[in-house]
Amino acid sequence: MMLCLNTGYAQTSLTKNTSFKPGENWYDESGHIINAHGGGLFFYNGTYYWYGEIKKGKTSRVPDASWENYRVVAGGVSCYSSKDLLNWKYEGVALPAEKTDSANDLYQGNVIERPKVIYNARTKKFVMWLHIDSKDYAAAKSGVAVSDKPQGPFTYLHSERPNGNMARDMTIYQDDDGRAYHFYSSEENATMHICLLSDDYLSHTTNDKRILINLSREAPAIFKYNNRYYLITSGCTGWAPNEASYAVADSIMGDWTQNGNPCKGADANKTFYAQSTYVLPVDAAKGKFIFMADRWHKTNLEDSRYIWLPLTMNNNVPEISWTDSWTIDELKK
Ligand code: GAL
Repeated sequence: MMLCLNTGYAQTSLTKNTSFKPGENWYDESGHIINAHGGGLFFYNGTYYWYGEIKKGKTSRVPDASWENYRVVAGGVSCYSSKDLLNWKYEGVALPAEKTDSANDLYQGNVIERPKVIYNARTKKFVMWLHIDSKDYAAAKSGVAVSDKPQGPFTYLHSERPNGNMARDMTIYQDDDGRAYHFYSSEENATMHICLLSDDYLSHTTNDKRILINLSREAPAIFKYNNRYYLITSGCTGWAPNEASYAVADSIMGDWTQNGNPCKGADANKTFYAQSTYVLPVDAAKGKFIFMADRWHKTNLEDSRYIWLPLTMNNNVPEISWTDSWTIDELKK
């Protein structure tokens, strides 16, 4: 049975999702459009958690910016949970924005972007890192928050510039040995940095490496295949889509070699009008992953869509092709 309700507030649909439909409205189990942009996935105890930016309300353009600084009030970080990656339960706001205190990092007039969560087995804490910025993106910092539960609420600790460096678009990667690394666009987005986090994941060590020097890459998404590390990034064109590329390294803190575009076919040179945010292993041994990206709608950011596509390894080369509709079973074949 299909039940579609028009509440006049937000579109709702109580249809069960049976396939990924990149770019279409994606509804949670209570029938509301999923609001989790620039997101990251986290698998814990048999459940997937999806964290992302809450973008709700009117989009406006920051006056006097030399670039197209469209923004919506920062709504904090949402959390959804799922067993099958298709049907998501809304778990609530994992990290709320601050409504009145403009001195607070999480003030809704600031930028709260690209949240990523990992679990620290030693401290038994769930740790969230995210991009914290002033509305003109001049602060360029990373914030950290902790929780005892994957769905939060998270307690915000503070923000910092890792080793004094500017930090904007980011991701966190937890390796098999338990070490965790912060990938962040730095130096006015010209150069990517990788920094080893402390054992409790709450601060940066001084083991901080510059990679993709002066290549101006952002929106990092990393995965491991066949003992090598792959890093997909976008170019730096704000909300406008551009061509993705991937880099490869034999060890995280080793040498990274920049390669071409993993996207294939029509609109590959614009990443299918989207920008990378995360890569999720589905069957990593067989080279099967999900590429997660955001199709930003710059003048109506709340209406930005999710582009999840199969990423498959072909002779050690990642390939992402467009498909209107697909399933995990098809990807695993
Ligand atoms: C993009 C970045 C997004 C957001 C946007 C603002 O380049 O990847 O996360 O910060 O710029 O224009």
